[in-house]
Amino acid sequence: MSREAEPYRDPGLPAEVRAADLLSRMTLAEKAGQMTLVEKNSIALPDIAALCIGGLLSGAGGSPRPNTPAAWAAMVREFQEHALRNRLGIPLLYGTDAVHGNANVRGAVAYPHQVGLGASRDPELVERVARATAEETVAVGIRWNYAPVLAVARDIRWGRAYEAYGEDTALVSRLGVACIRGLQHEGGGPRFGSAATVLATPKHFVGDGGTAWGTSKTFIGQQYMLDQGETLVDEATLRAVYLPPYVEAIRNGALCIMVSFSSWGGLKMHAHRYLLSDVLKGELGFRGFLVSDWGAIWQISDDDYRAVVAAINAGLDMVMVPYDYRRFYRSLMRATESGDVPLERVDDAVRRILTVKFEIGLFEEPFGDGARLAQIGCAAHRQLAREAVRKSLVLLKNEAGTLPLAPDLPLIYVAGRAADDIGIQCGGWTVEWQGQPGPITPGTSILQAIRESCPQATVLFDPLGRLPEDAGRAPAAIAVVGELPYAEGHGDRADLSLSAEDRAAIEALRQHCERLVVVLITGRPLIVTDWLDLADALVVAWLPGTEGRGVTDGLFGAAPFTGRLPYTWPRSMDQIPFDFGYLPASGPGSPLYPYGYGLGAGEASLPEETHGLRLL
Ligand code: BGC
Repeated sequence: MSREAEPYRDPGLPAEVRAADLLSRMTLAEKAGQMTLVEKNSIALPDIAALCIGGLLSGAGGSPRPNTPAAWAAMVREFQEHALRNRLGIPLLYGTDAVHGNANVRGAVAYPHQVGLGASRDPELVERVARATAEETVAVGIRWNYAPVLAVARDIRWGRAYEAYGEDTALVSRLGVACIRGLQHEGGGPRFGSAATVLATPKHFVGDGGTAWGTSKTFIGQQYMLDQGETLVDEATLRAVYLPPYVEAIRNGALCIMVSFSSWGGLKMHAHRYLLSDVLKGELGFRGFLVSDWGAIWQISDDDYRAVVAAINAGLDMVMVPYDYRRFYRSLMRATESGDVPLERVDDAVRRILTVKFEIGLFEEPFGDGARLAQIGCAAHRQLAREAVRKSLVLLKNEAGTLPLAPDLPLIYVAGRAADDIGIQCGGWTVEWQGQPGPITPGTSILQAIRESCPQATVLFDPLGRLPEDAGRAPAAIAVVGELPYAEGHGDRADLSLSAEDRAAIEALRQHCERLVVVLITGRPLIVTDWLDLADALVVAWLPGTEGRGVTDGLFGAAPFTGRLPYTWPRSMDQIPFDFGYLPASGPGSPLYPYGYGLGAGEASLPEETHGLRLL
């Protein structure tokens, strides 16, 4: 049979048929290679083809030097060229965390983090943002995105609360589906398979947003408290609160799911055969492949061999090793040869991986769509991000019609560390894993946006609100305060109060203005009770990303406020974590602002909204 006549090379045949044919031609070593996912700096280039490696990834911030779109495109292309030299010509999947735009790439548009999109309540917007993200991702040759996060986040002290759409199961399900659709389909149609689509990876299965404080055993530079901990709920609660977003994701075409670092029932999810194989693959009929999280299988056991056996037998299909891939590969080979991992399990895993590779058209389009390079950071995407920011703003307080501010104000004072800082407004997962304050990527800061919105005004800025001695009273002042960037367990925080520095900025401005507007740049609700009286208006802008103009569109009235809280807002830390089964609407124990709260035009509250599904 000629090469061309080999059925797996025929794009006219169904993906399953092609996968079965290809699988029948593979050695055990090649199968083990396909199940291996390696961090890109750890791979020896010749091994990509020699071991038939299934995937490579840029870990968070895993950028080339220099960090430019062109360098990304060249890097990914080179890896793929190596892969295509393997005996059977199997392309690799290259993965990245494009969780709010393809924001590891310097110059890409950073959209609001998922919490802001949760506030927008707008699936159609989420789909368009995901589509634009896919365009900026395939532009550098990447066809695999570790998004969306389908965590139902029940404790805002969690450092990943901002990566979630919110605390409500129905909201997470609805917006998660919209994101998957946007990433995997072009032009609204079922065109998964074109070079402009990326494989979505809903994560982290399951219960990652429900872990209990103090149950995490992870230490990475600091002790994690919630992240990677244990979800201490019964099965009925797990199924009612945390599982439904995955049911919807699978119904809507999810073909890859990432497993959570967390545990349930005293067992690491990565070793949880019941949840991975019986529930997800069996009961829910998930036919795609399961990818592990970063080095997570090594948490199963101190003994590498036992960890590999437990993970693969539990149902893991591809393992994000990420560094010492030979260690994993050898253990997997040995385990299969000895029968500790049945060959049928390996065949099932590889069949799943290959079927997805065929289904997304990777064999036909292994290089993404380099013609789209100019779309990275383009005006249309910045416009879309600005719209998303505008629609994510939640107005919590607006005394005496303080907002919108008149665009023709003569003098505006601005303070706060977050006012003129792209890095802070982008948050974590931007260029670096943890994000970073400063001009880390091009964009419009909120201060710049204020200046652009009111070109005639004198705008005086100082991060701490220190104004000149002779500074007069301004009709309006804007304090932009909140959280510094963080990611994962590094953001697990027992105290969600403002820093002393931010508090001082608010107090300083208060002395010098008629009306004080406070804008919060934050991944989650913060404790505002102690200083709320100082503010005439309070706007939550979440982590808006690169387009600060979206914030000023709200402040100066170019667009109405329509966002609603995706998280219940506490009065004090002792309310956290909320007992969602008993949350009084008023009186002691009631939240400061309920889930779904937001003021609209004027001071009227938007129509009441409650949780879409009962929160247990
Ligand atoms: C995170 C995942 C992410 C992976 C790859 C892990 O630390 O938990 O969400 O996709 O790293 O960067």
